Amino acid sequence: MGCDQNDLLRVDPDRLWQRHMDMAKLGATERGGVNRAALTIPDVELHWLLASWARKRNFAVEIDDYGNQFMRRAGSDPHCPALVSGSHSDTQPTGGRFDGISGVLAAVEAMEVIDDAEVCTRHPIEVVIWNNEEGTRFRPSDMGSAVYVGDTPIERMLAATDSEGVSIETAVDSLRARIDWAKVRQLGTPIAAYLELHIEQGPILESENIDIGIVTGIQGTRKFEIHVIGEEAHAGTTPERNRQDAFMDAVAIVNALREIFYDPEDIVRFTVGRFEVSPGSLAVVPGRVLFTIDFRHPDNDVVQALGDQVAEVCKKAAIRCTTEVMETRSALSTSFECKVQQVIEKCAKQRAYSFKYLPSGAGHDARYMNSFCPSGMIFVPCYKGISHNEKEYASPESLAKGAQVVADSLLMLDEMI
Ligand code: HGY
Ligand code: MN
Ligand code: MN
Repeated sequence: MGCDQNDLLRVDPDRLWQRHMDMAKLGATERGGVNRAALTIPDVELHWLLASWARKRNFAVEIDDYGNQFMRRAGSDPHCPALVSGSHSDTQPTGGRFDGISGVLAAVEAMEVIDDAEVCTRHPIEVVIWNNEEGTRFRPSDMGSAVYVGDTPIERMLAATDSEGVSIETAVDSLRARIDWAKVRQLGTPIAAYLELHIEQGPILESENIDIGIVTGIQGTRKFEIHVIGEEAHAGTTPERNRQDAFMDAVAIVNALREIFYDPEDIVRFTVGRFEVSPGSLAVVPGRVLFTIDFRHPDNDVVQALGDQVAEVCKKAAIRCTTEVMETRSALSTSFECKVQQVIEKCAKQRAYSFKYLPSGAGHDARYMNSFCPSGMIFVPCYKGISHNEKEYASPESLAKGAQVVADSLLMLDEMI
């Protein structure tokens, strides 16, 4: 069925909005945002809520060894790989109510209208919640989808622990215990096509009053953890000439890095997101500093060339301390399949939604899915492009139009693939 079918397939904007507000209560912060780290109690409750919704509709619920959760509506051909739509449910510590979860709830809404309309699809249709996309509790980020498609070996990842020493494996066990009816999903189970709705996290769609973003690709990125190792000393008795001050060296290193990442055209995105000084005591010359850099660029040659300089620049800029540089993530720019983009365009047109092709500055699970099956992303506008910020906002109308295109695109893909 294409999306010109009867309007039984119309999504319900109020139900979709209310679900956003309900999910925002799980990890709600005082300033109206959400702090819901991967598989913490609020995140497990969110998974349980969606699994309970699926069970009520007799959809199968599966969890893989990395904690990705799938909810499946059967198709007429059980041998067909599923059409999958979803995103992540974890957030940044000062996250918003829409980053990630909007893609999950759009997929839930799409599956609900398809189910209520008793549409018989050939492919099974699945909603997925990818685990640990933001990477704030467990490092590195983007792990659920990367492990699922085999981009990152799971052995390395299961041992990752949070600041309390809890491993991913233990966290996944707690998810399985909470959703004790879920079956085991094998990592790498084939998928026919993948669609991810996400807020744009940029200002373009809103400023141009466009309903739907058809995402052309995701820019490349490389992320590093940099350790600066000096010597703790007494703040009162240690002369400057005898100090191995990790903080002062770290400042010199950051300034040297800022020089190589400086881009007069302002296309490079260079961020020092974490900067931890230890022991962090007033009267102690810092012995260690850990800081992170996250840089991004659409041109893979630039991503390669700039990233390859990082270790050398750190070593040279350190005055009296030593440095250890660890690359924690590296992903080249990726372009989405044209045929999936065309499906999204057709469905937007048939609903008379305005649309625009545009690249993604932010990273998404769809990056990894794109190496695994035909994939595409649908952006919806968000207020002033604000994201990774408690003020993040998307309107009920925008979210509903996005979910409608997800529903229609899944049905069109079902006929096409
Ligand atoms: O960092 C990113 O681009 C994504 O929002 N996690
Ligand atoms: Mn994010
Ligand atoms: Mn996101």
